[in-house]
Amino acid sequence: MKNFISAADVTDIDSLVAKALAYKADPLKDKNLGANKRVGMLFLNPSMRTRLSTQIAAQNLGAEPIVFNVDKEGWALEFEEEAIMSGNTVEHVKDAAPIMGNYFDVLCIRTFPSLKNKEDDYSELYIKQFIKYSGIPVVSLESATLHPLQSLTDIITITESLEAQRTTRKPRIVLTWAPHVKALPQCVANSFSQWVNAWGKADFVITHPEDYELDTRFTKGATITHDQDSALKDADFVYVKNWSTYADYGKIYNNDPEWMLTNEKLQATNNAKVMHCLPVRRNVELSDEILDGPSSIVTREASNRVWAAQAVLAEILRHKR
Ligand code: CP
Repeated sequence: MKNFISAADVTDIDSLVAKALAYKADPLKDKNLGANKRVGMLFLNPSMRTRLSTQIAAQNLGAEPIVFNVDKEGWALEFEEEAIMSGNTVEHVKDAAPIMGNYFDVLCIRTFPSLKNKEDDYSELYIKQFIKYSGIPVVSLESATLHPLQSLTDIITITESLEAQRTTRKPRIVLTWAPHVKALPQCVANSFSQWVNAWGKADFVITHPEDYELDTRFTKGATITHDQDSALKDADFVYVKNWSTYADYGKIYNNDPEWMLTNEKLQATNNAKVMHCLPVRRNVELSDEILDGPSSIVTREASNRVWAAQAVLAEILRHKR
């Protein structure tokens, strides 16, 4: 694996999941793989889980993680080619990224969407420019349209749950839209859809209100319905996430609290486990009764972020040798 930007960078998802679970069983088994290597971690947006889990993952491999909060501590970066930099941006990525390529062995980056211009956001200019100009492997810590480390973690968590149940049955996985007070990116929902489809081992259903259709490049293969109750029937896993509209980009058309998952709604499921990437707005996106109850696996899911990051960094460090 050279870069880790999307599910398309992974040839065998099950094999990567198995490697992550092997790290969970024995976190320090490759403690020298990253010896004398530096992992740069650039944040253009806030983070708790991604930042901490990736730092721990790098340290477990013997590498040195160096965090740089570009949004708060760095110069404002310009990403457009041939830009006339007479505005607020101070340094062009084509000047900054090669230096980072010399400082680090792997570059991990969290970028963000504007939610104003769909074409710009979906071009993934920021992360592509870092790949183009850094000259070293790039790992997405969440981009404008995808969140691959989160999605790998989600498949790890689902696999782990199925293994604990000792079942080889194809699970029914439901991604349900949930209300939120702010317009959020589509990246977690896009990415979850892309990974579940690429994994290919589930009956995958997406449910959302009208006008919240996601980009079909990610959802193709899933059953899509506006009827949340029918979607939840017999579900084994329910993944809860808000996203803003894609077609009329970045808007909130619906904030119907009826879309918030409750224990009553969960009764139609097959004793489903409830997942969410976090952070979560309690009693807006997800009810206290679910988050604090036995159906929720959100804490285990977030804890598994370490093993996803460790498996990916290990693959990249091995490829670099
Ligand atoms: N799920 C997730 O990416 O969390 P953070 O934004 O805290 O990293």
